[in-house]
Amino acid sequence: MNLRELYINFFVSKNHKQIPSAPVVPENDPSVLFNTAGMQPLIPYLKGEKHPYGTRLCDYQKCIRTNDLDEVGDKTHHTFFEMLGNWSLGDYFKEESISYSFEFLTKVLNIPIEKLAVTVFKGNNLVKADEESANYWKKLGIKEENIAYLGEDNNWWPNMDMIGPCGPDTEIFYFRSNDKVPDKFDPNDNRWVEIWNNVFMQYNHNEDGSFSELPKKNVDTGMGLERVVAVLEGVDDNYKSSIWKNIIKTIEEVSNKPYEGNEESMRIIADHIKAAVFILGDEAQIKPSNTDQGYILRRLIRRAIRHAKKLDIDINSNFEEKIAICIIEDFKKYYTELSKNKDIIIEELRKEKEKFNKTLEKGLKEFEKIIKNINDNKLNKDLAFKLYDTYGFPLELTCELANEKGIQVDIDGFKEKFKAHQELSRKSSSGKFKGGLASTGDMEVKYHTATHLLNAALKITVNKDVHQKGSNITSERMRFDFSCDHKLTEEEKENTQNLVNKWIKDSLDVTKEEMSKEDAIKTGAECMFIDRYPSIVTVYSIGDVSKELCGGPHVKNTSELGKFKIIKEEASSSGVRRIKAILEEEKENE
Ligand code: ALA
Repeated sequence: MNLRELYINFFVSKNHKQIPSAPVVPENDPSVLFNTAGMQPLIPYLKGEKHPYGTRLCDYQKCIRTNDLDEVGDKTHHTFFEMLGNWSLGDYFKEESISYSFEFLTKVLNIPIEKLAVTVFKGNNLVKADEESANYWKKLGIKEENIAYLGEDNNWWPNMDMIGPCGPDTEIFYFRSNDKVPDKFDPNDNRWVEIWNNVFMQYNHNEDGSFSELPKKNVDTGMGLERVVAVLEGVDDNYKSSIWKNIIKTIEEVSNKPYEGNEESMRIIADHIKAAVFILGDEAQIKPSNTDQGYILRRLIRRAIRHAKKLDIDINSNFEEKIAICIIEDFKKYYTELSKNKDIIIEELRKEKEKFNKTLEKGLKEFEKIIKNINDNKLNKDLAFKLYDTYGFPLELTCELANEKGIQVDIDGFKEKFKAHQELSRKSSSGKFKGGLASTGDMEVKYHTATHLLNAALKITVNKDVHQKGSNITSERMRFDFSCDHKLTEEEKENTQNLVNKWIKDSLDVTKEEMSKEDAIKTGAECMFIDRYPSIVTVYSIGDVSKELCGGPHVKNTSELGKFKIIKEEASSSGVRRIKAILEEEKENE
């Protein structure tokens, strides 16, 4: 049996309900690009909303982290990963959480107690040292020398700056080495690997900077599947574990080269195509594009292709399809959407590959043009960076081409520019993440309710078969994607805007009820991803104009929204249109 199943079975035996993995793109938290932790889809419940499955939950969640994209290629970084998690929503707290983790590690995974060590929170001006957790660990037999007290940089999740539910945590480490276990645990000794994080989420970090106690104390835990499987299988390169075995083998076959000596490129191809397969195979139906999730997807596919070229793989063969099929076969048991979307995955990978090949050709032409205008035999950093940024030329490729012509590339200048660029994208991804946790601020809640009104209005003003395809909210605006085969006419736009504003003026109550999924469907409630809802669902109604399956939160009455204004209507992808809209404060005397 594999770790996923052992984990779920264990927590189900402790009265947890298994919940399905949410899509990689958050549904009700549309201001983040991707789910980056198992808890993210659960934020409304961690903040007090009632979860339809009860107070003890467990799952394996598809996660994507893009702020370390350029680190991928080493032994441990992954873009896509699975997070095993168990949660208590106001149910058990520290004692049970710690004893469940301990029992799972020592009794189910049979890890000897000497190989385990933990960190606990050493306290700050807000929360005192977590002696309580330390004592529970000691009671279970973890010796004092194997408990380290660390500060908020290590033992607070997510961190002190982020808005949203948070709290101190205790992290569990495993001694991954055949060396004798040292007498005292040193968290900086990299033979100790963190394998599990139990967060005791009892605060909400409010937007005004204050911390308030959550109505109920929660436990949020996370265990990175890829890392723990590698640790348990005794390999120090994650890509050598059973999770990656078939994928790497397929890449060895299509490249006709061994993994040894080609690790970096093979890891990048494996990681990036796997992430692309999961993004394309997701219910959210992301396609390669130049913005947001679509842009990340595009970068992943293109970087994988660049590395395939490096390995001399014939780009015109269907190598990417072979790798994708291997990934789909390996994971379809756990993520059935991969089989359902198999054709889309393969088609989109191929299309993007062909597009990139054309860009490369254009890049080569640009390169020829550039060198014609060079008279000091030097390629400056701006041009080298342009080749990278616009044409996807890795520095090595530029250098190779330049050297053939006896031209020197300003490598240091390029690296400087590259670093500044990386810093920018890192900032923007962490900003996005912050947005996610912060996303239930007042404005986001208003925009969230406005998406329901817009969804309902479009069915009347445009076509009753319009359905939501996605949305994205910040505190400044909303974006709403919907199925529609034509550009909206001025009249359709105006009617839609007027209808939403009429409903706002009508001061409609927003109400919420729980019902069985069957009943919800019978009442005609709108829903984006019906398959993944549990048997009992929450339905939000707005007056009698809108009914949608949704986790909330929403405003109480539409009169709170202000004035709704459509800013832009444009194509999003084939058969999907996108509306950008804002809410303005209603001015008196207007
Ligand atoms: N949410 C916590 C983490 O991602 C458990 O580490």
